[in-house]
Amino acid sequence: MNRTGKTLTMNVFARRKSQGQKIVVLTAYDLTSALIASAGGVDAILVGDSVGMVVLGYENTLPVTVDEMVHHCRAVCRAKPQVPVIADMPYGSFHVSTAETVRHGLRLVKEAGVSAVKIEGGRPRIEAIRGLLDAEIPVMGHLGLTPQSLNRFGGYRVQGRGETAAAVLLEEAVLLEEAGCFALVLECIPSALAKKVSSRLTIPTIGIGAGPDCDGQVLVLHDMLGLFTGLKPKFVKRYAELGTAAVEAVGRFAAEVRSGSFPASEHEYGEESTGRPDGNAANVSGQSGYLGSVKADGD
Ligand code: KIV
Repeated sequence: MNRTGKTLTMNVFARRKSQGQKIVVLTAYDLTSALIASAGGVDAILVGDSVGMVVLGYENTLPVTVDEMVHHCRAVCRAKPQVPVIADMPYGSFHVSTAETVRHGLRLVKEAGVSAVKIEGGRPRIEAIRGLLDAEIPVMGHLGLTPQSLNRFGGYRVQGRGETAAAVLLEEAVLLEEAGCFALVLECIPSALAKKVSSRLTIPTIGIGAGPDCDGQVLVLHDMLGLFTGLKPKFVKRYAELGTAAVEAVGRFAAEVRSGSFPASEHEYGEESTGRPDGNAANVSGQSGYLGSVKADGD
C-alpha cells in the first residue's frame, strides 16, 4: 500500500500505467466515505452516479441530477482526500448540446471542486468530450455495461461478447483515447477483451467486472463493504459485511435503551466540570485525524 502522505494529482493515472503499477479507484459520496477511501490508500475517488442507487434509493442511475452530483461531490471534496476526485456526469447532463455539457462540467469543477469528470459512452460522446477538454476539464471514458444505457440494453447485461461487439468496443476505446480521455472504465466485459483493450491503449483502463488485466480496478464502496445488498453482481467482492454489523449494532442499542442499560455512568454528565463535553475524542475536531492516516504516494 502507498502511505507516504503526499497528495496525488491527476498525473497518477499515467504514471501508474507507465510504471506497470495497478490503479486503485473507489467510489465515495460524502465526507465519511471519502475519509474512509482516502485513509484506505486509494489512488482516486469516483463520485459515481451509483449514488442514486446506493444512497438516494432510486431504482437505477437515470434520475440522478447535476444538482445531486454537485451536492455529493462537495461533501467528498470537503474531506480533502489528497487524491483526485472524479465526478460522474449524470444521465441527461451531456446529451443535449456541447454548451450544456460544458456548463454542467464546469459546475462540478467550480462549485464542487472535482478534478475531472466521467462520461458514459463511445462514438456519440466524442464531441462532448472535446468540449469538456477545451474547458480544461479532464475526462474519463466509460465503455461496456454503461448503466445509463439500461433501457437500450434491456437490462444489465455483459457487453462486448462476440466478434462484432468486441471489435466495436475496441474501436470506441481507441476513439476515446484519441479524443483525449485520460483513462477508460471498462465495465462488465469479457476479460480477454479487456486485456486486448488495455494492451492496445496508452491510457489506463480501470476495470469493474472486466478481469484482472486492466490497469486498475474500481468498485462501489457500498458493495465492497457489504452495505448495499440490493444488487450483487458477480464482479463484486465483499471485503467486509458492514451492513450485517450495523444492523446488529442498532439492535444492541435498541435492546439496551429498552432494558435501561444504556446510557451507563460513563456516558453521563455530572454537576462538576470534568473536561470537554466530547470526552477525550480530540480527533473528532480534525477531519484528517478521524480515520487514521493511510496515505497514498505523491507525484
Ligand atoms: O457510478 C459508478 O459508481 C460507476 C462505477 C461503478 C464505475 O460508474
